[in-house]
Amino acid sequence: MKPHDDNPLTRPGPAHPDITDDGIALLVRTFYDRAREDDVLGPIFNRAVQDWDEHIAQITDFWSSIMLRTGRYSGRPLNPHLRLPLEAEHFDRWLALFEQTATELFSSEIAHEFMIRARRIADNFELAIGSMRGEIRTPRHSR
Ligand code: HEM
Repeated sequence: MKPHDDNPLTRPGPAHPDITDDGIALLVRTFYDRAREDDVLGPIFNRAVQDWDEHIAQITDFWSSIMLRTGRYSGRPLNPHLRLPLEAEHFDRWLALFEQTATELFSSEIAHEFMIRARRIADNFELAIGSMRGEIRTPRHSR
């Protein structure tokens, strides 16, 4: 199997034995507190999000489902992003801020488990957005 044939998003079971729902909640809260204040991401988030507590709760469920397979999220994560004015620089910034936050809060092993999934999801969003706009982009995980 080539390394890029193994997709962490479809692997069964928890991503890492030391990841907890409390840890995920702290990561999501800290990340979105920063993203709201960020020069690149803040304007997009603040225009689009009406209820931050609801958004943070939803994203916490999303990451709980991704990292721990709890099934707490069963929405359609791509949908809102198709309506936002997102460019590659927004995904670059989102991933850099998420990585910085995960690295501060967790061991490098756990931060890595978050990042390999976050990059895949960002790829999925960017590819869908690019396809919708008639552009095709190279996925980040294969660059
Ligand atoms: C590129 C920068 C991004 C921006 C500016 C952005 C912004 C947003 C906004 C405005 C919403 C709708 C919130 C609401 O209606 O209350 C949303 C929803 C969401 N975002 Fe993002 N997002 C970005 C990237 C990502 C990435 C990389 C992920 C995952 C790794 C992600 C995961 C989600 C999820 C799970 C939802 C909830 C979808 C639903 O069930 O409706 N976003 N995002």
